[in-house]
Amino acid sequence: MQGSTNKLIAVIGATGQQGGAVVRALQPSRQFKVRALSRDPDKHRELADEIVRAELNLPETLRSAFEGAYGVFLVTNFWEKGANEPKQATAAVRAARDAGVKHFVWSTLPNVEAISGGKFDVPHFTGKARIDRIVKEAGFMNHSFVIAPFYYENLLGALAPQRQPDGSTGWALPLDPAVRCLHMGYISELGDIVAGAFAHPNEAGNGEYLPLVGDFMSFNEIIDTLNRQGHKFSFKQVPKEVFAAAPFPGAAEIANTFSYFQAYTYLGSDSRDRIALANKIAGRKPTNFAAWAQMNFPAQIDGFISKKVPVEKA
Ligand SMILES: NC(=O)c1ccc[n+]([C@@H]2O[C@H](COP(=O)([O-])OP(=O)(O)OC[C@H]3O[C@@H](n4cnc5c(N)ncnc54)[C@H](OP(=O)(O)O)[C@@H]3O)[C@@H](O)[C@H]2O)c1
Repeated sequence: MQGSTNKLIAVIGATGQQGGAVVRALQPSRQFKVRALSRDPDKHRELADEIVRAELNLPETLRSAFEGAYGVFLVTNFWEKGANEPKQATAAVRAARDAGVKHFVWSTLPNVEAISGGKFDVPHFTGKARIDRIVKEAGFMNHSFVIAPFYYENLLGALAPQRQPDGSTGWALPLDPAVRCLHMGYISELGDIVAGAFAHPNEAGNGEYLPLVGDFMSFNEIIDTLNRQGHKFSFKQVPKEVFAAAPFPGAAEIANTFSYFQAYTYLGSDSRDRIALANKIAGRKPTNFAAWAQMNFPAQIDGFISKKVPVEKA
């Protein structure tokens, strides 16, 4: 594409799921050069065209990390011990603006406080949504908001099936499994949306919201899909209070998150137009859950489960 050859994109979280997806999507395009950012660049020398140190808790590292970049992708990690997402994101926005970045892409989530009228406290959603205004008011030539879904990968990671007291294998969650409320997706495909936004700033760089959604499902539908593929998973709805009091970090936050999903859905509003725009910008329809599960859910889940610890995060 003329005029945009080799624009440099600096990617926070490049060694992780979201940022890694962005690096992989940008690299083959030849339209962009990628500067992967990490707190420990020496460990990831081969990751991208450039790898540079950036520590969101040390704003002085950010200015040089963004210097010369046309675009920045930012994700913050709520679950990292001691992370203060608003502080980290504000520092990144300020540094990007000072470095003359043109297009800023922020990985946000819905504002649960506003959507639920204060009924549900879900800081890892609302905390991100509050940063949107800071991005908007920073005065970048272009800015875009991407919304990551409930990762399919959660079902093999933090929310993998567990052996249940009745001997079955499956999930015990504070969620009505009949309610279709989960906007889900293959997080590797977030990169296509971000790369598309950088490539098409006129269509997606004016504060558009771009959610990745590969499927919209209830937990019963998730389990039916997996069981049709040969698994035998169970589901038990547990009271929110019981789940919230479970002895692992983040239990109350996760319980509140599921209550919000059940009441309002993951995205919290009719997002069909936004999803359609995101797919258009990505240039593809995202993978649905059945296709992803067929490729990724191990047939022998038993050996897999034994390595898992109880749910820690979502
Ligand atoms: N799981 C879900 O369903 C879901 C859905 C929507 C949103 N999210 C959100 O996704 C976020 C996590 O993103 P992810 O899944 O991509 O995480 P991840 O795979 O755990 O990777 C975290 C990345 O953040 C970087 N990082 C962490 N702290 C940093 C710091 N202080 N300075 C610079 N870089 C830092 C790490 O880089 P280095 O270690 O290389 O420095 C790493 O690349 C969370 O905030 C979560 O709320 C999750």
